[in-house]
Amino acid sequence: MLKTSTDSSDLRPVSDVAAFSTMTDRNVVDDESLFGAHHYRRLKAVVRRTQGAWLYTQDGERILDCLAAYSAANQGHHHPKIVAAAVAALQNGYGSVISNVVYTDALSAFLKKVATIVPALSPRLGNGRNKVLAKNGGVESVETAIKLGRYYGYKQKGIPDGKQEIIVFRNNFHGRMITIVSFSTSEHYKQGFGPLTPGFVTADFGDLAQVEELINKNTCAILVEPMQGEGGMYQPPDGFLKGLRELCDKHDMLLIFDEIQVGLGRTGKMFCFQHENVVPDVLILGKAIAGGIVPVSAMVTTAELMDLAFRPGSDGSTFGGYPLACVAGVAALGVIEEERLADRSAATGRILKQRILDIASRSSHVKEVRGKGLFIGIEVKSGDAMEFCQKLLDLKMLANDSHHHTIRISPPLIIGDQEVDYICERLEKVLVG
Ligand SMILES: Cc1ncc(COP(=O)(O)O)c(C=O)c1O
Repeated sequence: MLKTSTDSSDLRPVSDVAAFSTMTDRNVVDDESLFGAHHYRRLKAVVRRTQGAWLYTQDGERILDCLAAYSAANQGHHHPKIVAAAVAALQNGYGSVISNVVYTDALSAFLKKVATIVPALSPRLGNGRNKVLAKNGGVESVETAIKLGRYYGYKQKGIPDGKQEIIVFRNNFHGRMITIVSFSTSEHYKQGFGPLTPGFVTADFGDLAQVEELINKNTCAILVEPMQGEGGMYQPPDGFLKGLRELCDKHDMLLIFDEIQVGLGRTGKMFCFQHENVVPDVLILGKAIAGGIVPVSAMVTTAELMDLAFRPGSDGSTFGGYPLACVAGVAALGVIEEERLADRSAATGRILKQRILDIASRSSHVKEVRGKGLFIGIEVKSGDAMEFCQKLLDLKMLANDSHHHTIRISPPLIIGDQEVDYICERLEKVLVG
């Protein structure tokens, strides 16, 4: 007789994929190479388990995570409150995906949490209430924001459909799907993947005059990272974001901020745009929004703009806003607030950056140190940051490069004095000797 899916004998431990499984590190690497796409350059480490700011290897060694999955693990790995929320959802029958044709309390709670944690967007085009559209990976929400920007141009500005243009920036990074890489300025992201999506024009990050020159009657939006992450950890010059705001107001365009990497406490404010107090029309969030437990992303805008662009059929996603993701999301955002992770990032980041500047002043390798909060870039003169990242990994600290030339230091926001000492001891060894 066939077993039913609820037979307890079916719940065998899956030991060959569990942490500290019997697979050797060699097996792990070999099988990944044999059966997986080689779309990431890997550093030489096999991680079996994670907790807080630490990664653990098979032989029991621990590595300080100074990358935090590009800001996805801002709350630290396996934060107990987020894990408890997700486990409770799965064990109590409210975690599984539910068809989007019905309402769920999980999505309702998540939408409200995100809509209210974000300050009221677009004073010009809204009346103080935000609305949220949930997706999975960050790139999906960037695409959703592009749809909104184009639709606004078509419907509100009367731009003929297909002629809408969005201004983007050199060295941008917004993900890897076809439309998004179409306007990347990194050739290797898009070469051979054509035909690419038209409708984007590029200005230098920080150059307002260039932006103004690119504006024409078909321009509907500006899409920008308020601080560039993958592009080399750059802050724009003071006044740049404000200038973009003014141009958008003057020419009736939407200002879209991609805060997938720099939002949710990373740079020492809950949202990066709060450093300059420049409020966008559209905000894109991802990564830490669900604490690194499940992929969730969100596009936030005003109720008016959301209702203008999206009706039944004009957008959707099977897993976008499914219960497990929403439960994890509510818990993850709660942790950022309760543990005041933005303030913590600002305070720890100030000390860490000061100490890194001191190390840099004694190093012959460092060109520049930049960043805010726990989002710190160390540009190296050789242009090959990975060479230093491998040495840091040998000293049990994980960091990677941003745009080849910059070492990215972006640990979970929960780190304290001991981890700051740990980081600085290793940077001292690698950068000074
Ligand atoms: C600014 C920014 N936008 C978009 C993305 C894409 O997010 P995802 O990899 O979740 O699709 C990233 C990822 O690093 C990012 O840093």
